[in-house]
Amino acid sequence: MSAWAEEGPAGDRARLDGVDLDALARRLGTPLHVISASALRRRAAELRAALAGLDALVCYAVKANPNVAVLALMADEGFGADIVSAGELRRSLRAGIAPARIVFSGVGKTADEIGEALAAGIGRFNVESRDELDLLQRVARERMQCARASVRVNPDVDAGTHAKIATGKAENKFGVEPAEAWRWFDERARRPNVVLDGLHAHIGSQVLDLAPFRHAFERIAGFAGELARAGHMVACIDAGGGLGVCYREGHDIPVDVADHARALRHAMRGFDGQLIVEPGRWLVAEAGVLLTRVIRVKHGAQRRFLVLDAAMNDLLRPSLYDAWHAIEPLHGRERERIVYDVVGPVCETGDTFARGRELPRCEEGDLVMIETTGAYGASMASTYNSRPLAAEAMLERGRYAVIRRRQGFEEMLAGEQPARDWQVA
Ligand code: LLP
Repeated sequence: MSAWAEEGPAGDRARLDGVDLDALARRLGTPLHVISASALRRRAAELRAALAGLDALVCYAVKANPNVAVLALMADEGFGADIVSAGELRRSLRAGIAPARIVFSGVGKTADEIGEALAAGIGRFNVESRDELDLLQRVARERMQCARASVRVNPDVDAGTHAKIATGKAENKFGVEPAEAWRWFDERARRPNVVLDGLHAHIGSQVLDLAPFRHAFERIAGFAGELARAGHMVACIDAGGGLGVCYREGHDIPVDVADHARALRHAMRGFDGQLIVEPGRWLVAEAGVLLTRVIRVKHGAQRRFLVLDAAMNDLLRPSLYDAWHAIEPLHGRERERIVYDVVGPVCETGDTFARGRELPRCEEGDLVMIETTGAYGASMASTYNSRPLAAEAMLERGRYAVIRRRQGFEEMLAGEQPARDWQVA
């Protein structure tokens, strides 16, 4: 259930985390990404409670919502970060996340990124290929450092999620098969600057079923046991992220975080090292909404279009994954219901938030809320169609803070210039 739904409308004024959304939109303009700090903290507490008693570190997957204010809140909750680029590393450090609590995932880490992460003293690299492992050894040796590393194992589990966000099947680009991981452990002496003592698995995102998690956990725990019996100490198991959330009431039934933790606890009962989990979406998705205004209602030859001032550049998920997001006009709940195609102003048909959605009749200027946008919303935004990045605000108990000012035109153009200084490469 979204933070909004928990709160519900207070009288005829829609509020989130105690803040009047209509007043907020008038003050900060639209489109506006909004995130409730109280909802984030509730989720953080729930996760901590589920993991209580385990030696477990939560590394928040920065990609879900990398705003420094969100990261600072995660740091304050005692969480580390799962990063996939130097940019995410810098954001995490800037936000005060302890370097030792940062893990670095991804198939394309460059020598520069590895060097920067080593210089920062991050906790661990989740290594995804032999080539990367060799590079890690080389960069660590040059820097006269030791890198701690886990092998990302591909558990070949079908997470039952959208193909574009499934990662744990053998056909995906992520991780290596157990036989290859085994060889890396056997060859450890050949890479003296890498302490290879961990396993990592992440099967995919928006996973709504416990079974694939359980399979992956069992597989990875079994593998750790085999390695230990062969004399290869496994000190850390990173169980990845992927916990799904409810985008559509009565349709998406998320895994209970306590059940997820129980499955983890059960699978890892014979393991006495450190556990890491890397949730992104589950921590932030339901805490966020996108506020947008109706530009106009267009009566097409066949369909009625609700044209919003938010577009696919502000929230890409419906265009990219056909993702369903609840859409709620904040005015005129009592008006008659009408079927709309809800679209943005971007010049392509894919710029559609919903097709054939029944909503209370909307008029020009009405404020509309698109729900469950806290994860992979602002984080996947672009300036496509030369639309500046939307503002972002954090709310907490009746107050708001701007955590990203609306991008100005000059900011959007920064770095661009006419082709003047022609040179020969
Ligand atoms: N760890 C690793 C290694 C990952 O690749 C991911 C997400 C996570 C953790 C966090 O997964 P989460 O807990 O958020 O499911 N843009 C897509 C989602 C892409 C997820 C990519 N990896 C979307 O909007 O649905």
